[in-house]
Order: sequence, then structure tokens, then C-alpha cells
Amino acid sequence: MNDSITLQAHQSPLNGTLRVPGDKSISHRSIMFGAMAKGHTTVNGFLLGDDCLSTISCFQKLGVDIQVNGTTVAINSNGIKNWKEPIDILDTGNSGTTTRLMLGILAGSHIHSVLVGDESIAKRPMKRVIEPLRLMGAQISGRSGGQFTPLAVQGSQLSAIDYTMPVASAQVKSAILLAGVQANGVTTVRESEVSRDHTERMLRQFGVGIKAENGVIQVQGGQTLRGTHVEVPGDISSAAFFLVAGAIAKESSIRLEHVGLNPTRTGIIDVLQQMGAQMEIEVNDTKHEEPIGSVTIKSSHLKGIEIGGDLIPRLIDEIPVIALLATQAHGTTVIKNAEELKVKETDRITAVVEELKKLGADIEATDDGMIIKGPVTLSGGKLQSYGDHRIGMMGAIASVVSTHSIEIEHASCISVSYPNFFEHLRIVSSFETLR
Ligand code: S3P
Repeated sequence: MNDSITLQAHQSPLNGTLRVPGDKSISHRSIMFGAMAKGHTTVNGFLLGDDCLSTISCFQKLGVDIQVNGTTVAINSNGIKNWKEPIDILDTGNSGTTTRLMLGILAGSHIHSVLVGDESIAKRPMKRVIEPLRLMGAQISGRSGGQFTPLAVQGSQLSAIDYTMPVASAQVKSAILLAGVQANGVTTVRESEVSRDHTERMLRQFGVGIKAENGVIQVQGGQTLRGTHVEVPGDISSAAFFLVAGAIAKESSIRLEHVGLNPTRTGIIDVLQQMGAQMEIEVNDTKHEEPIGSVTIKSSHLKGIEIGGDLIPRLIDEIPVIALLATQAHGTTVIKNAEELKVKETDRITAVVEELKKLGADIEATDDGMIIKGPVTLSGGKLQSYGDHRIGMMGAIASVVSTHSIEIEHASCISVSYPNFFEHLRIVSSFETLR
């Protein structure tokens, strides 16, 4: 596909205020839970990215009435029991969240369905979800003994389990909890490192009783979700690109408004603070399930740090852009305990290291992360996105400090999570302000 974009070396100050698009994780869940619920659900600030549109199309194929009007979505459902068996496959596109959470939902339903995604999804491990679901009695078959898509699910009555998570993964946790809501008995999930808790928060919002304490989450099966209103904050994972841009570009100041500040997602803010970034954070909305606020960042003198342990699940999607940030920091940054990066949309350890090296970065891959030495003046060149939105955006943000232009091949993949990314980059580069 020839959809490359060339960004001129910018090297001038960045300024402006942005409102990044809606949170991807929360947008997916709003559709899923609205479809599972009885009654009317409205969603405000929905992310019109390709991944979330895949989720909508899957539920429409199950017969759920979903109307999209700009970033407002209305869902009318009579609950899971009224879904119809799809005559077509459910296409989850590039979306791991759609594929994994839907497995948990469909496993406890009454219907037969087949989940298929794109080439990247076909390589991503599904055993981590299917194994616990099978322990609950789920009937799922698929390629390589059910490890990969295409996956066929024959919905059935499930039984609760007590499951200790082998990896920190909100997708696995959520799939089990969503199966657990439909199962007989009390389902318990135990996490050693806390992963994003949007499912727990949103289930509560839909009227489900759920207990979460010290990494132990419990849900009683047989509860009915009730339609509600969901306010989707801006995605901190998208904001992260402009936080990094503002910190590394000279004489810059970028304000990001209406950003989700859920503590299970704010690892990027901790990292910027530890590196010495000049930043102001205001939490100005706590009336919804998810805290929302503004973050202002200014050009900063940064120092290298060590990033690992329980911080990793709180910033897993931000590691590509954190690696770029580290190329501009003084000293060594070590990212460890991040082997999960190898099973994202692409192997993000290899992709980040290969692409930043092309720009002249001093970066090396390790088994569970990377080591970056800085500061280094980045040159320019032709970068691959690997069809991975976050790798594409990392390359594009590098242009705010690079000495020469940067070409990103297959840049259209960025619409998976940030459809107006280039418009926002243009706005902060040219001092306009957008709402
Ligand atoms: C997500 C969980 C994370 C994250 C992904 C979205 C979610 O994946 O990387 O982008 O919405 O639950 P894992 O559960 O695989 O860590």
C-alpha cells in the first residue's frame, strides 16, 4: 500500500491546545457493555478510530441497534439473550481488545460466532484468554488448537473460576470478568501487577456489583447490565505523543485538555516527572467513573531513568514514544520487564529499536526491553510503521527534533487510534489552536 507521509524537519517551537480523541479502551467497552445491557446507552466523546469501528460493526452483526452521530453513539439493546446468531464472520480488524473481550462475552452467550482479524491479529496470542475461558467451560476452537484466529465460539453456560493471572493484561482480565458476569457462581481474578481497570469501573456504571481490592477482583454471575450514559475522556495514550513532542522540542508549550487521568494509565506522567519534565496537571472532573483533567507540558531538560516493574502495565502502550523521549534525555534510560511489547500490534521492541536506529539513536534491544543513551541529534530518513499505529506516530513525532525530513511508510495505520493525528501535529507546529 502506498500511503506514506513525509514530515519536514521542524525544529521550531511547538505551541497550542489540543483535545485528543476519545480513549480507545473506554470506547470499545462502552459499545460492548451497551450491547450487553438492557435499555438505552448513550456515549459521548467516542473514538472514531478503526479499532472501535470494528467493535461497532461486530455488534451490529449480532443485531444490536447502534447509531453513530459524530462522536456520540446511541445503543439500544434488550440484553445478550436477544442477540441473533450472525450469518457472517465477526471481523475484529487490527483490534486485540475487540478480539479478546468479545471471546469472553460470546463464550457465555447462546450463539455461535466466528472471529477473524487482520494479519497482525492472526499472529497475536489468544491462548492466554482461551485457556481461562475453557476452564469456565467455554467452547472455543481455532487455528493451532485454538491459539490463533480464526476462532469459532459456541456460546454455553459457564461456571465461575478463581484465576491467577500469569501476565498483567487488562484484556485477559476483562475477558474473564465479562464471562464471569454471565457464569454460575462468583468469578475471582487475581493480578500481581494492576492493569488498567476500565472494565471494573464501567461494569459498576452499568449497575453490576463488583469488588476490587488489592489486586483481587470478584464478580457474581447472573447480574444484568442496565443501559447508562458513558462519558469518554481523551486518550492519555494519544496525548502521550504530544506530551513527548512538547518536552523535546525547543521553546514549546502544549496543553492537552479533557484527558483521562485514571491512575492505572498515568505511567507516562510519572516517567516525564521522573525525567524532570516541566509539567502541570489539573484534575478538573471527578464526577464520572473516570477522572478527567488537563496536562500542560513545556520544553524540558530531561535525564535518563530506569523504567520497569509495576510501572510497565501503566504505560505499556506509551513505550515507543518513551523510547523517542529517552533519545533526547541526558544519560541512560533502561526499559525492562516489558516483554509484552513483543506481542503487541507488531514486535514493538524490534520495531522501536530498528526505526530509531535509522535516525541515529543510540539504542539497543534487550530480552525484555531496551537501553537508550542520550541526548543524540536525530537525522531523518524513511521509517517503517509495520502497520502499527504507535510506531508510525513515534516516527512522526521524531520530526519535531530531527535535522532532516522523515518519511513514514503505511502511515494510514495511525487511524486505528488517532484519525486526526496529522491535523493535530500541524496545529501545534503552526501555532493554531484547535478545539
Ligand atoms: C488494552 C489493554 C492492553 C493495551 C491495549 C488495550 C485494553 O493490552 O496494550 O492497547 O483495552 O484492555 P493487554 O491487555 O494485552 O496488556
